[in-house]
Amino acid sequence: VTVTVTPRPQDQKAISPDLFGVFFEDINYAADGGLYAELVQNRGFEYSDADHPRHEGWGPAYAWRTYGGAALSFDTANPIHANNAHYAVLDVSKPGDAMANTGFDGIAVKQGDTYLLSLFGRMVEGNGRRVRVALRTKDGREIGSATVTLPRDGWRKLDAKIKATETAADAELAIMPEAAGRYAFDMVSLFPKDTYKGRRNGLRRDLAEAIANLKPRFVRFPGGCVAHGNGIQNIYRWKNTVGPLESRKGMANIWRYHQSVGLGFYEYFQFCEDMGAEPLPVLAAGVPCQNSSWGGDGQQGGIPLGKEMDEYIQDVLDLIEWANGDKTTKWGRVRAEAGHPKPFNLKYVGIGNEDLISEVFKERFKLIYDAVKAKYPDITVIGTVGPFYEGSDYEYGWQFAKELDVPIVDEHYYCPPGWFIHNRDFYDAYDRRGPKVYLGEYAAHAPGRPNNMETALSVALYLTDLERNADVVSLSSFAPLMARRGNTQWTPDMMYFDNTSVRLTTDYYVQRMYGQNAGDDYIPATVASDNDREDVNLRFGQSVVRDQETGDVIIKLVNALPVGVECRLNLGDMVADGTPTEVERMAGEPSDTRAKPSKTTGTISKEQAISLEPYSFTVIRAKAGSTLKK
Ligand code: AHR
Repeated sequence: VTVTVTPRPQDQKAISPDLFGVFFEDINYAADGGLYAELVQNRGFEYSDADHPRHEGWGPAYAWRTYGGAALSFDTANPIHANNAHYAVLDVSKPGDAMANTGFDGIAVKQGDTYLLSLFGRMVEGNGRRVRVALRTKDGREIGSATVTLPRDGWRKLDAKIKATETAADAELAIMPEAAGRYAFDMVSLFPKDTYKGRRNGLRRDLAEAIANLKPRFVRFPGGCVAHGNGIQNIYRWKNTVGPLESRKGMANIWRYHQSVGLGFYEYFQFCEDMGAEPLPVLAAGVPCQNSSWGGDGQQGGIPLGKEMDEYIQDVLDLIEWANGDKTTKWGRVRAEAGHPKPFNLKYVGIGNEDLISEVFKERFKLIYDAVKAKYPDITVIGTVGPFYEGSDYEYGWQFAKELDVPIVDEHYYCPPGWFIHNRDFYDAYDRRGPKVYLGEYAAHAPGRPNNMETALSVALYLTDLERNADVVSLSSFAPLMARRGNTQWTPDMMYFDNTSVRLTTDYYVQRMYGQNAGDDYIPATVASDNDREDVNLRFGQSVVRDQETGDVIIKLVNALPVGVECRLNLGDMVADGTPTEVERMAGEPSDTRAKPSKTTGTISKEQAISLEPYSFTVIRAKAGSTLKK
């Protein structure tokens, strides 16, 4: 098959510079036990039946065990904070009696690395006060320790450093009082010193770097379904997730575990800033998940109108003040005191997630939307139209968004690869004068739901068309982003991890190739083929964009055909002969789950031939020197 691509720079159009971002949800243990670098599981002893977990033995003792004759119980009298009601009481009669945390399937440490220990402690009874805290291997060897001294006169936060003397994949953190007595502990925490950008209470460096390498223009958080929760009581409340860790209010996670909210709104905003991405918080529209099944609030219920809803609306407004207000404002001061005096420059706020477009939803959405528009006209509100599928009320959602003139609406679809291949014109007819689109969740789901070249190429093809339509599609994010091996509720995900490694999938690489090669101008092209079979039209994709900052011209070529394509590029004056290029290619059989891209450098000419392997995705970046006018 031969295909000739002739770009028409005279017809170029501006497209959204924020097109490629990421969707972060605490699903699949993506936060606690994942991106959030805390190594201790259930540090606050707040796991409870309310979490509706899938695990045996769930409760305040989960991930904790005792050694020797130690007895572990839990109390709530005189807690360190009302939001963190439970604490552990450890009774020991002799040295060697201990309690230990088993982390998230073990605690992984590296020889020579420093770990930051902190805990709240107090003596309940007994004469000794010294407690050794040690990293211990499965066979009982200590590989690093520190000693803290507990106060008799009430709770105190104690800090120490532990240096690991050996590498271990599944150590425990043992708490070993030196003398008989009763000891109280809460918020027992161990962090690697080495976090992403060295932040305290920070993020796991390897996972954060994998996300940063996607070059996301924005990060959506905290979900997904986590944002609107399972019943009204489970709606994610951002105010519970900022401030000192011991004062944050952990909660049941709709994916049936516990979220400590140690990775809370401050940390999300900080992460965005560290990556140069826009924060995109999504807040519930005053209604919980329409699929709520165990929250007891019923499917159609929303926050009661009147006082409760007014307070909820105020929470939304307060978030904007918290993010953007200066130190003289009430919530701006809270942010400044937490360590970020400068505003975070929030631009987007999502209201609602994939909600049923019921009267209950519409009423509450409008109240929030009107309040934000009135107080913060510069904030772009992103509405929701519900999920797109045969028979869904997606059209109805669009009608409502248009009536209200919502600037951007969030669409979600998880479809088979064939859907993406056959619906490449999805946005062609979208009204350019109506609301813009945030394709907030999407993925190609092949039977059995693997990530392979079939899913990756179908998305790569579709994204050539998303770039073509990026005058109406402003933002997009593949979902979900990440999953912890052995704790996965949803698949496929873009990356899979355990305590020491990350596996990047074919879908990840496609997103990275787009994120690192996004543009601000789209250059339409005429495509001609020597073979007019429908397959060729459907399964060959091209997109030419230009990045204004570098001046680079970027050509994406997708060949999802089972045969090679000889591609002729007629670039004319867009490049000079001999313009240096970076070329990134990924190829593999449709069932290949391990394909990875590789990069080469070379040059490109005004008329350039390039052979595209069967089932391949190629990105050519013609470096500055482009003669295309700015
Ligand atoms: O991405 C996983 C889930 O899919 C999200 O939480 C939800 O919004 C959607 O149904």
